[in-house]
Amino acid sequence: MKVEGLSLEIEGREIFKGVSFSVNEGEKLFITGDNGCGKSSLIETIMGFLKPKEGKISFKGKELKREEDFKEVRSKIGYVFQNPDDQLFCPTVEEEIAFAPLVKGKNREETEKIVREILREFEIEHLKDRPTHKLSGGEKRIVSIGAVLSMEPEGLILDEPTVGLDRKRFRKLVNFLKETSKTVIVITHERELIEELNWKVFKMGESSP
Ligand SMILES: Nc1ncnc2c1ncn2[C@@H]1O[C@H](COP(=O)(O)OP(=O)(O)OP(=O)(O)O)[C@@H](O)[C@H]1O
Ligand SMILES: [Mg+2]
Repeated sequence: MKVEGLSLEIEGREIFKGVSFSVNEGEKLFITGDNGCGKSSLIETIMGFLKPKEGKISFKGKELKREEDFKEVRSKIGYVFQNPDDQLFCPTVEEEIAFAPLVKGKNREETEKIVREILREFEIEHLKDRPTHKLSGGEKRIVSIGAVLSMEPEGLILDEPTVGLDRKRFRKLVNFLKETSKTVIVITHERELIEELNWKVFKMGESSP
């Protein structure tokens, strides 16, 4: 993913300007920056939900222009929203995590296996039959991460994934991020995460990595 000179305006107000960075396949990147500097909006622009004013976004060497191009990005990159309430939409946790594999054409057995593994990986088996809208904040966060991982994406973009997590889930997420071979972008303010993972850091509002 390569972003060059990207600018965004919403209702005539500049949200960010001249943003450039790149992440090669398999690389990991943190994006940090002050509240309101435009981190989440940057990701929404990359994913094609917002239209930039200027600049260029390329994925696998090809510039993204048409809606079809962004659809391809959305099918390959799992995006965990900052607010889990924007993400979760299925009646139960099991259905939420099963949704992506079913849409991708996995059969019932394969889907059940994926769901089981994700529930086990984050120790949330007990949430399987619970209604998603009644979960706690941290529970919603971990389920929304699980629901994105179940689509088996090539790459991942996680917007503030540690907010609300207890120590156990925080450690599980850190271990997952350490071990995964996927390309990953994490937006975070969490110092412990940044220090422990030792990835490239792009501070929005400063020069590019
Ligand atoms: N749809 C919108 N309409 C108007 N303003 C918006 C919209 N979306 C974002 N903004 C504004 O754009 C700015 C950047 O917001 P954004 O959510 O991208 O910041 P952020 O860097 O992710 O902040 P945080 O660290 O708090 O998550 C904010 O001032 C916000 O109010
Ligand atoms: Mg944000």
